[in-house]
Amino acid sequence: MQTVDLYDASTFERAIPHDYFRWLRENEPVHWQPPRPLSTQVADLMQTEQRGFWAVSRYRDIVEISLDQERFSSERGTVLNNDLTEDRMAQLRLWMINQDAPRHTKLRKLINKGFTKRIVQQMDRHVRELSAGIVDRVARRGECDFVADVASELPLLVIAELMGCPVEDRTKLFNWSNQMIGFEDPDFSNEMGAADAMGEMFEYAGHLAQLRRNDPREDLTSVLLGAEVDGERLDELTFNMFFMLLILAGNETTRNAISGGMLALSEHPDQRSKLAQDLSLLPRATEEILRYVSPVISMRRTATRDVELAGQKIAENEKVVMFYPSANRDPEIFDRPDEFDITRDPNVHLAFGWGPHFCLGANLARAEIRIVFSELLTRLPDIEVCGPVRRLRSSTVNSIKSMPVRFTPES
Ligand code: HEM
Repeated sequence: MQTVDLYDASTFERAIPHDYFRWLRENEPVHWQPPRPLSTQVADLMQTEQRGFWAVSRYRDIVEISLDQERFSSERGTVLNNDLTEDRMAQLRLWMINQDAPRHTKLRKLINKGFTKRIVQQMDRHVRELSAGIVDRVARRGECDFVADVASELPLLVIAELMGCPVEDRTKLFNWSNQMIGFEDPDFSNEMGAADAMGEMFEYAGHLAQLRRNDPREDLTSVLLGAEVDGERLDELTFNMFFMLLILAGNETTRNAISGGMLALSEHPDQRSKLAQDLSLLPRATEEILRYVSPVISMRRTATRDVELAGQKIAENEKVVMFYPSANRDPEIFDRPDEFDITRDPNVHLAFGWGPHFCLGANLARAEIRIVFSELLTRLPDIEVCGPVRRLRSSTVNSIKSMPVRFTPES
């Protein structure tokens, strides 16, 4: 099998290398990926010397890592594949995603106070209204760019609504998030660096917090600012950083699931018509979209001591990178793993991770995917991809930048 460079974001820009992952699962489930030189634009965030990492491709090994924070830390080196500068790491450790117990447990408990079932259920109604509005705007046109006009709109509007940001600010949030997540892609990394985007988003969060402290409302920002665990509240720095994490974690990922789902349905017209004829299949179809697309490509851990995984010795401080698209096609767990089957059951995929860091927004993301496809397949049942699909150059998120679609226009 020809080696594929899993460090190189261009690898994933072409496509997820499923054949290579199959080979790795069968032959080298814990595989050494050597380092590669960095592009210059990201030097203010990254160390100039990057280290190689262990690439983990099997479902069971990824579950083992995700459950064992004592041996595989999210905090030591953050969850990003690249080696960041010490300053940047110190800052990013304010994100719960880059923390281990007990710090993580405490912060997650506090944040959970905002992510109650009630808040998410209330969002369901908004998601319905927002989805209908998005489809209204394109329905008479007969064609559109699915990513710009549909997939990226909904998650942004939902997070803006959830946090209580004015809706007109969503373009700002969209651009900042693109700059930060797309730093490896020339389309996004030129105009403004990821570091600048981070600074501006941070300031924005501070301003929003100030507004809500003076005048609390019925939004997550107000709930979070008022929540307490063991007599402690979120300080300003932690709130601002959490705001950024939500915008980044909840926006790009859900967008990718929706556009990847559209592409999968378009490439499998039999599945699309089965779903359009029976919308009660939507919850299962949503899980299958998440499994098949795997919107997050990888998350990293760092070994806290010398460990052994699947017979491979890993030294303390070495990087261990989990590849979710590979786990989600592991034949040990899934029958016919490369088939897109919207009736698949059971479907215990790892698209949202596993264990203590399991995605906080999973239910919200599921609702968005389910509702937007319900709206699309009811009103534009013959919607299909009709032109070139441009993918993002990223080794972290499985993202589509643009994808033309056509459909019979609503009269
Ligand atoms: C389809 C959409 C989504 C996917 C595929 C996804 C995927 C993931 C994954 C894989 C993790 C685990 C990271 C790890 O173990 O290191 C995670 C964590 C997280 N996600 Fe999501 N996510 C999605 C949507 C969202 C949404 C909508 C939100 C918020 C509104 C969100 C907020 C978070 C947060 C805060 C964490 C960190 C949790 C912790 O560290 O305890 N995500 N997500």
